[in-house]
Amino acid sequence: MILVVGANGMLGRDLMALLGDRGHGVDIAEIDITSLESVLRVVGNLKPEVVINCAAYTDVDGCESNVETAMTVNGEGVGYLAMACRDLGALLVQISTDYVFDGGKGTPYVEDDAPCPLSIYGESKLAGEMNAAFTPEHLVVRTQWLYGRYGKNFVETMLRMGTEKDELSVVDDQIGSPTWTVDLAQAVIALIDSGCRGIYHAANSEYCSWNGFAKAIFEEADLNVSVKPMTTTELNRPARRPLYSTLDCTKLVADTGFRPQEWRKALQGYLMLRTERINDGTW
Ligand SMILES: NC(=O)c1ccc[n+]([C@@H]2O[C@H](COP(=O)([O-])OP(=O)(O)OC[C@H]3O[C@@H](n4cnc5c(N)ncnc54)[C@H](OP(=O)(O)O)[C@@H]3O)[C@@H](O)[C@H]2O)c1
Repeated sequence: MILVVGANGMLGRDLMALLGDRGHGVDIAEIDITSLESVLRVVGNLKPEVVINCAAYTDVDGCESNVETAMTVNGEGVGYLAMACRDLGALLVQISTDYVFDGGKGTPYVEDDAPCPLSIYGESKLAGEMNAAFTPEHLVVRTQWLYGRYGKNFVETMLRMGTEKDELSVVDDQIGSPTWTVDLAQAVIALIDSGCRGIYHAANSEYCSWNGFAKAIFEEADLNVSVKPMTTTELNRPARRPLYSTLDCTKLVADTGFRPQEWRKALQGYLMLRTERINDGTW
């Protein structure tokens, strides 16, 4: 059995749907990953072969003012899961982020590149990566710019704003790969089924800026919105973000045979599914 922790979150719900009978989901109502007692009890009772940890404190700007919560959930909590997995001989799969990098490299990041987080969120996720290694059977999957059906995300924000405004300013100096949670979930399952261990990067292929992503969303959704450029400095968010954090996924493809589709195709797939589901009332 594969235990998904954080099963009610954006990635967790898509993972649960793809895993079907192989999956068992728990979230904050059943397990608190910041409590060693809770983790040992729940994981010990369920005895999974694999634990996929999607639970996290994902409010990147909120982490700057809630440092202790960030470090406890994203760092220590992963260590508790690693202890429980080590006791059972289970594999721990930890979902991590491009925000462990500082964005100064200028070419896609490979798994061996030295992390250098710019934010508390990035630091706390890096602590989680290190704590996952407390058990020898671990897999760290770094991803980025997620959107999916079951969470607040950039695509849904743009679609809503696109019906309210005919002009928007969106940052054009942060580069990365928008990634559909369904594609990431497939990559994670492929890594597990291929027996992979260690660190992997997994994201949709090709890259763009947030500004380019916004333009693509409006084009695909047939919304006539003018998207102006703005800089990260002008946006002035509490947490610093890497300016270039594209992830090189060569190792994922080589070791699993799973090749994530281009981000624009993934966006088309997401919007098509969204339209179908809205039409049949199941969105
Ligand atoms: N979203 C992105 O763009 C992005 C990019 C790169 C990496 N990631 C990583 O991908 C993973 C999944 O992200 P996501 O966007 O799917 O996250 P999400 O939607 O925020 O889901 C996280 C889930 O974890 C739960 N949770 C929080 N604290 C917990 C605790 N102490 N014990 C148990 N469960 C707890 C949350 O419950 P509540 O909602 O009740 O708090 C929520 O259901 C995370 O590791 C994240 O760091 C995300």
